[in-house]
Amino acid sequence: MPKYIFCVLLFLLCSMTIKDEPLCNEIKLREKASFAIGVAINTGKLKDNETYRNKVIEQFNSFTPEKALKPLYVHPEKGNFNFTEADHLIEYCRYYKIRLHGHTLVWHKALPHWMEKFKGNANEWDMMLKEHIQGIIYHCKDYIKSWDVVNEAFNDDGTLRKNIWLKNMGESYIEKAFRYAMEADPEAKLFYNDYSLEHGGEKLDAVLRFFSDLKAKGIRIDGIGLQMHVSLEYPTIDHINGAALKIQNNGFIVHYSELDVALNDEQNFFKSGKRLTALQKNRMKEIVKGFMKLKPENRFGITLWGLSDADSWLSEDSFRARPLLYDKHYKIKPAYCGFVEGLE
Ligand code: XIL
Repeated sequence: MPKYIFCVLLFLLCSMTIKDEPLCNEIKLREKASFAIGVAINTGKLKDNETYRNKVIEQFNSFTPEKALKPLYVHPEKGNFNFTEADHLIEYCRYYKIRLHGHTLVWHKALPHWMEKFKGNANEWDMMLKEHIQGIIYHCKDYIKSWDVVNEAFNDDGTLRKNIWLKNMGESYIEKAFRYAMEADPEAKLFYNDYSLEHGGEKLDAVLRFFSDLKAKGIRIDGIGLQMHVSLEYPTIDHINGAALKIQNNGFIVHYSELDVALNDEQNFFKSGKRLTALQKNRMKEIVKGFMKLKPENRFGITLWGLSDADSWLSEDSFRARPLLYDKHYKIKPAYCGFVEGLE
C-alpha cells in the first residue's frame, strides 16, 4: 500500500477513535467571574439577530463595539460625527447594566478618507486630533468610562509605527492623545492597546518604557490592552502570563482586550478536528487561569473578539480559524468549557 494512503487511513482511524468529551453546562459567564467578561459587538447583529442578542446579554457584562466607535464610522466627515450606532449601544448597555468599553480613538486603520488626506501643519494636525478625541469622548462620557485611546502604535521591534499621526505630528501625538482624553473625561480609564504584547518581548518592553515615562510626566494612562489574538501554542502560556505580570508590576491594569484562539496555524495542520478543539479548550483554560493570578484590582477584564465562530473577524479570511467560545450555530464549544474551568 502506498505510504500516503496508509497515512490517510491512520489519520482517519485516529480521529474516529478520539471520543467526544461531553460538554459542560452552559452557565452565565458574567455571574461566575470575579472580573468583567466582555465581547466585541457587531451592532447589526445586535439589532437583527435574536439568538445573538440573547446570548450576549446572558453571558457578558462588558461590550466593546467591534466597529461603531472607530474613526471611519463615528467621524465620517470633519467635525461631523455619526453617533447613531454608538448611541444605540449606549442605551442598550444602560438598560442591561453592561459596561461599554470605547474602542478606539486613534488608530492607523479604519480611517475616514478626509483624515487620511488631511493637509495641514503640525499645529493643525494637533487641533484636528484634539477635536476628534474630545468630540467623541464628550458625547459618550455619560456612559463610557474607559477608552482604548491609542491602538497599535508600535512595531514588533519596539519602534513607533509610521502612521499618519507620527508622520505629521511626531511622536508627541501619543502623549497628546492621552492628554486630550484625560482632559475630556478625568474619570475615564485610559488604555494603550496593541497586539503581540502578550509575547512579552521587546515590543512590550518598549511600550512599558514609553508609558511609564509618560506617567512620570503626569499623563494619565491606566492600563494596557493585550489584544490576545493567539494560536494554540504561540505564544506559550508562560510568555502570556509573564507579560501580564510585567504590566501589573509596572503599575498598569490589564485588559485581555480581543481574545481569540485560532485553530489554523501551520503546525497543527494535520491534527484532527477533535484534537484541535480539545487543545483549544485547554488553551482557554490556561489563559483564564493565568489572568486570575493577577491582583483583583489589576484585572480590567477579558474580552472575547466576537461571540461565535460565525462572528469572528478571522472567519473573514479563513473558515478554519474557529477561534471563539460558540460555534456558528451559537452552541457552546469545548473552548467555552475550558474558559469556565479557568474561572474555577
Ligand atoms: C477588526 C474587526 O473585527 C473587523 O471586523 C474589521 O474588519 C477590522 O478590524 N485589532 C483591533 C481590532 O484593534 O479593532 C480589529 O478589529 C482586529 C485587530
